[in-house]
Amino acid sequence: MYTKCQVFTPNNYVHELLDSVSYTEHLYGLKLLENSCGDGNILKEVVRRYIIDAIKQGYSKRQIVTGLESDIYGYEIDKKHYNKCIDNLNQIAMQFNLPNIRWSIFNQDYLFSNVEIKYDYIIGNPPYLNYSEIDKSNRFNLKEKFETCRLGKFDYCYAFIEKSLTELNERGKFSYLVPGSIFKTVFGKALRDKIKCNLVAIKDYKCLDIFNGALVKSVIIILDNSYNKEVINYIDISNKIQFDIEKKSLQEKWIFSKYKSISTKRFGDYFKVSNTIATLYNKAFVIKNIDLEKYKYVINNIKLEESLIKPAYSPKSLRYGKREFIIFPYLIKRGKIIRMTEIEFQERFPGIRNYLTLYEDKLLSRDRDKSCKWFEYGRSQALGLVNKEKLLISTIITNTVLVYSLKRQDIPYSGLIITKLSNSGLSLSIAKKILQSRDFFNYVRSIGVPLNGNSVRITSKDIENFTFREI
Ligand SMILES: C[S@@+](CC[C@H](N)C(=O)[O-])C[C@H]1O[C@@H](n2cnc3c(N)ncnc32)[C@H](O)[C@@H]1O
Repeated sequence: MYTKCQVFTPNNYVHELLDSVSYTEHLYGLKLLENSCGDGNILKEVVRRYIIDAIKQGYSKRQIVTGLESDIYGYEIDKKHYNKCIDNLNQIAMQFNLPNIRWSIFNQDYLFSNVEIKYDYIIGNPPYLNYSEIDKSNRFNLKEKFETCRLGKFDYCYAFIEKSLTELNERGKFSYLVPGSIFKTVFGKALRDKIKCNLVAIKDYKCLDIFNGALVKSVIIILDNSYNKEVINYIDISNKIQFDIEKKSLQEKWIFSKYKSISTKRFGDYFKVSNTIATLYNKAFVIKNIDLEKYKYVINNIKLEESLIKPAYSPKSLRYGKREFIIFPYLIKRGKIIRMTEIEFQERFPGIRNYLTLYEDKLLSRDRDKSCKWFEYGRSQALGLVNKEKLLISTIITNTVLVYSLKRQDIPYSGLIITKLSNSGLSLSIAKKILQSRDFFNYVRSIGVPLNGNSVRITSKDIENFTFREI
């Protein structure tokens, strides 16, 4: 599990982490912890600064060795990296002719370690592992021990932040390189509540690829236990802007914006944003790369009944102009979706039934809603929205917001659907304009969960909570 997170900090960010909490001079006697030290990329610079400063302050060699042993602490769970770290630190010490140091670096799991020390500095780049990457037994133990991991799908780094904060002394300073998603994810709320009070600054590297291709966007968070002002200094490194943000304005998701919204109309009061239908086995239902009309609805020598075949759409198929079809195993009567019994389905649509039988095993083993029959979609969600005019938008936004208009008979099978509320008073073409506006794009960039490249992920709630100006 740990090899996934062994991505070490490049040198310029090491300097940034240390400078952010002024780990620069008068360091002798101050205790520092690096709780997931890997090969020691951060500790090497810590040790170098410590020795140079101690020499400058006039400490003797013997005093400096004692200081290194009792002021600098580290943890690394992986024996191989632990050994490398010790070698690296010895090399730095030898440059100053300081041999035989008994380093306080431990080859242990930091999260379950018990050392009764309060630190002046905790500096690091902890392991990031998402919930699915954490072993089951570890997940259980972390949920038991850490408040920030108690709810839902936490990231492994939450536990490192929480434990660090309990080990800082009352003037302690903390500088940590963490994933930008901690400000946006639903399950990061408890963590955000914990860090808010003493948070001094956020350095956001959102457009920079710190780890050379690793799929995370990172930020440095800087906390100081002696800081309790009502503002956080937000620094957008990529765009070279900075401003103060009122802590009380940071609620569920943290949005970093200089401007206060003057808009009053909430998108969700006019339009409904929902997930698309979910077949839970698209391979059986969605027909790609075959022009069914051209082949008179014959596939695998089976003639499909045309009335249950609809045009199918996903943000991807629309972007690439691909024509796709979907089997829609329901009847539509006076605008309402009607479910068939198995006998009715067999008698009226023998071709489609035979075709779906090719996938029967897979269809039966789907984790489907209890009431769904084997030949139906796995979830009954969004069926009511199918026979309406709608817009389709992707949950992943990159450089522009692409919004597609779909007709009643069109079936979107991935992305988010936007339909009009009955009392809306605004048309779908207005909704499209709103979603393609600069304001919406900026909002999405500030609220979405950062992904690899330049993309963010948004949810239906994010879109419904957008407030817009008169159109
Ligand atoms: C992202 S790397 C960072 C290493 C170092 N801090 C740096 O910036 O170069 C995270 C390191 O944490 C280690 N690690 C993972 N879980 C740990 C745990 N519970 N206790 C201590 N170290 C751990 C990994 O083996 C890995 O070397």
